[in-house]
Amino acid sequence: MNYIKDYKNSLKGKNILVRIDINEPVDEKGYPQDDFRIAKALQTINFLRQAGAKIALIAHLGDPQKDGKEGLSLALIAEVLGRLGDFEIKFIAEEIKDLDAENIIKSMSEGDIIFLENLRFDTREEENSLEFAKILAQFGDLYVSDAFSVMHRKHSSMVAITELLPSFGGLILEQELEALNHILHNPAKPAVAIIGGAKIETKLPVIQALEAVFDYILVGGKIANEYIDEYKIAQSKKIILPVDFVGDKRYDIGPKTRKLFASHIAKASTIIWNGPMGWFEQKPYDGGTRAIAQAIAKNESSYSVIGGGETIDEVHNLHQESKIDFISTGGGAMLEYIAKQGQLPGIKALANNNLDI
Ligand code: 3PG
Repeated sequence: MNYIKDYKNSLKGKNILVRIDINEPVDEKGYPQDDFRIAKALQTINFLRQAGAKIALIAHLGDPQKDGKEGLSLALIAEVLGRLGDFEIKFIAEEIKDLDAENIIKSMSEGDIIFLENLRFDTREEENSLEFAKILAQFGDLYVSDAFSVMHRKHSSMVAITELLPSFGGLILEQELEALNHILHNPAKPAVAIIGGAKIETKLPVIQALEAVFDYILVGGKIANEYIDEYKIAQSKKIILPVDFVGDKRYDIGPKTRKLFASHIAKASTIIWNGPMGWFEQKPYDGGTRAIAQAIAKNESSYSVIGGGETIDEVHNLHQESKIDFISTGGGAMLEYIAKQGQLPGIKALANNNLDI
């Protein structure tokens, strides 16, 4: 894969299409409730501005095909991004398919930033349509992918676009891959993965695949609570399930489980964590998730990586970020990266790109 960082001197005056991931929870008006991913996107944007590029940002928000477009415009995200970066962003509210790319590009000067509307407003994005990618490609002489958390999606803005433009990894992507490759290729043992939250359909195959890399996989949250019997994930000795819960409805892992999980975490040399252990937004079901965050922070000699919005929130609330070696912007993508040995659609597409700058 080529990284854009290594091409700083070739970017002056170039139009660069940059895929970022700012998919944050938003309120009903579309105002982001968190800015972790938005702030992360600044690194590559600032780098490109300093290099004298003209930047066209593309991103998705939520699932407009399922939930409707209302409240899923990127307008307010663009506003927050501009404020965090202390630069001007021209948000283009029309749908991407209706834009006059040539004129928009012509009006841009070095360092300018435009931000296009939600990619997923167009059904073709999720179909990996080359036709839609051609519309996007009009906004760039080259393409930079910095959306690590979307690498597991075979979408136009992640995959088809790389057939049309010379393609590069952004600064965040490089950091993400370095951290995760460290775990994938050379994990100090014992290696422990902690998986919680919901989405059993996506996480079950991942949990099974993680057995190739990890010595223990501690499973909590909704997955452990509701689906253990149905999916029989407890068959492997490596998979450690809760032995008790809080309350009849099993909304959190219980004290014995916390102790059990903490003892595995204390002995671990490599740790990866995604997903809360219970209904952590609701007291008294927040204790399990907190106990895991504290146990990881306490094991300072391990190499630890966490990812996923709720997981990051918990560590943030406890002010334990400095005790974690790497905080990934990816939740699902982070786990799939390990489970699929790095073979995610967005990454393969970048690795295969040999178009010249
Ligand atoms: C995420 O939020 O994990 C990424 O932005 C991917 O979003 P998706 O699960 O809606 O594809």
